[in-house]
Amino acid sequence: MKALVCSAFGPIADLRPGTLPDPVPGEGQVLIEVKAASVNFPDALIVQGRYQVRPELPFAPGAEAAGVVRALGPGVQGFSVGDTVVASTGHGAFAELCLAQAAKVSRLPQGMDFEHGAAFVLTYGTSLHALQQVGRLQAGETLLVLGAAGGVGLAAIEIGRALGARVIAAASSEEKLALCRRSGADATIDYTQPEWRRRVEALTDGQGADVVYDAVGGVHAEPALRATAWRGRYLVVGFAAGEIPRLPLNLALLKERQILGVFWGEAMRRDPAQHEANMAQLGRWFEQGLLRPAITERVPLDHAAAAIQRLADRQAMGKLVVLPGADA
Ligand SMILES: NC(=O)c1ccc[n+]([C@@H]2O[C@H](COP(=O)([O-])OP(=O)(O)OC[C@H]3O[C@@H](n4cnc5c(N)ncnc54)[C@H](OP(=O)(O)O)[C@@H]3O)[C@@H](O)[C@H]2O)c1
Repeated sequence: MKALVCSAFGPIADLRPGTLPDPVPGEGQVLIEVKAASVNFPDALIVQGRYQVRPELPFAPGAEAAGVVRALGPGVQGFSVGDTVVASTGHGAFAELCLAQAAKVSRLPQGMDFEHGAAFVLTYGTSLHALQQVGRLQAGETLLVLGAAGGVGLAAIEIGRALGARVIAAASSEEKLALCRRSGADATIDYTQPEWRRRVEALTDGQGADVVYDAVGGVHAEPALRATAWRGRYLVVGFAAGEIPRLPLNLALLKERQILGVFWGEAMRRDPAQHEANMAQLGRWFEQGLLRPAITERVPLDHAAAAIQRLADRQAMGKLVVLPGADA
C-alpha cells in the first residue's frame, strides 16, 4: 500500500512517500481503508522519537482516520465490513490502509463526510474529555482556551459553547483570533501582548476564568494559572510551546485552584464505555450544527510531511487533512 514512511526517527523532512506491506488485523483490531486522515501535534513528535510511544520502524504516522471497514480481526464485534467509521489509530493513518483497536473505532456520525470525520475524533474527543470529565465545566462558567486556533483549541471553543460556557480564546495573531471568533469564541486575547492576563481579569470582573484549557504550556502557563478563578480548574493538556512549565504551587493554595492533568488516550483505554458515550454526544452535537471542524488545508500523501512541518512550525490553523486517495 502507499504510505508516508518513517524509516528512522529523525527530522520531519526525512519522511518520504513510499510503500509499506498491507496491514493484517490481529485480535481486536479493525482494518480500515483510509479515505481521509488528519494531522495532529503528536505526529510531529512521534516521527522524531520524542513521543511516549515509539512504533516499530518502518511505520506511517497519522493518529486519526475516517474510512471504510475492510476486514475484522478475531474477537471484534459490533462492526461489519463496509461500515463507515472514524478511528483513533495512534499511528498508521497516513496510508491507504490502517489498523485501529475496535475500542477506538466509532461510526462516522450521521451527515458527516470523511474529511470532517478525520478531523474529529482526536481533537473533539480530547476536548470533551478534558472539559467534561476532568474540568467539570458548567453552564454559565467562563472558559479560557490557550492555543485556541489549533486543533484541540478550536474543538475546546465549540464544546465549551455547547456546554453553555462563555469562552475566551487566546492565540498569537489576529488571523488566528478571527478564526476563533468564527468558531464561536465570545472574546479573544492576543497572548503575545505583555500582561495579557489582565485582559482575562477585565473580561471576568476581576474574578478570573473558572476553567483554563492549556494545550500550549511554556511561558503562558504561569499567567494562565494566575488568571484562574477561586476554585477554578487549570487543565494541563499539552506543551505545544515545547517547554514543560514549572509552576509555583502557592498559586494553587491562594485561590483553592485545582491543577488537573488530561491524558485522553489513557482515559479512553481505561474507560471505553465513557469514550463511546462521549463520541455519541459529539455526534449529536454535530448533527445539531454545534460542532464544525475547521479544515484549512487538504493535501495528498505526497505533501503530508510538509503539512506536519507547518503544524510543528506554528504556521497551521485548525485542521490539515491528508487524502491518501488524492493525486499529488
Ligand atoms: N493531553 C491529551 O490527551 C492530548 C490529546 C491531544 C493533543 N494533546 C496536545 O495538545 C497540544 C496541541 O495539539 P494540537 O494537535 O491541537 O496542535 P496544533 O493544532 O498545532 O495547536 C497547537 C497550538 O499551540 C500554539 N503554540 C504555541 N507555541 C507553539 C510552538 N512553539 N510550536 C507550535 N505551536 C505552538 C499554536 O498557537 P499560537 O500560535 O496561537 O500560540 C498552535 O495553534 C499538543 O501538545 C498535543 O500533544 C494532548
